Amino acid sequence: MSKRSYLDKPVSRETLDRIFEKVRWSPSAANHQPWRFVVVTEAGQHAKFVEALSRGNEWAAKAPVLIAVCAREKDDGVREDDPVRYYQFASGLATMSLLLAVVDEGLMAHPMAGYDAPKLHTALSIPPEYHIMCIVSLGYEGSVDLLDERTRKKDESPRTRKPMAEIVSYDRFGFSEAEGA
Ligand SMILES: Cc1cc2nc3c(=O)[nH]c(=O)nc-3n(C[C@H](O)[C@H](O)[C@H](O)COP(=O)(O)O)c2cc1C
Repeated sequence: MSKRSYLDKPVSRETLDRIFEKVRWSPSAANHQPWRFVVVTEAGQHAKFVEALSRGNEWAAKAPVLIAVCAREKDDGVREDDPVRYYQFASGLATMSLLLAVVDEGLMAHPMAGYDAPKLHTALSIPPEYHIMCIVSLGYEGSVDLLDERTRKKDESPRTRKPMAEIVSYDRFGFSEAEGA
């Protein structure tokens, strides 16, 4: 669940260490482990991170921890004729491990694609060869009453997903090609 309201409460380094110990064991092609997590908690760096958030993601400024998930193509390590970019795929898996580990700790995390990548590269000294795959906010969940009206509406809108038959078929590819076009 991707919620948006955070309590003004820091997350201890011990908690973060327990979370990333789980993340560390994520699977990856040829065990390349291409993911790099830049975990921002220090006030000055946090303020710079916040400046890179896109409009609509201002709520994330309240999260005490902001994370940039980084990976570079060089760590792909898979055949050149394979169109799948495994460094991106593995970073996604590790990000999901992060989300699950955060929930296990009773905290809340929210992945985001809405940020100014060049600004964030500069703010966090991320080398240009590393792509920022996504960013993640992390902290203790607060009440929706702490949110502005527009963000509260987003948080309160019902969660939806495609029906099972649109995403799962047994024994052969049973989806119409026109679907989603
Ligand atoms: C790669 C990625 C990028 C996302 N970017 C944003 C974002 O910029 N802002 C935001 O509020 N939510 C963002 N989300 C959260 C999605 O909107 C959310 O996961 C989806 O709507 C399902 O929400 P639910 O799990 O609460 O039902 C992103 C999620 C992913 C996986």
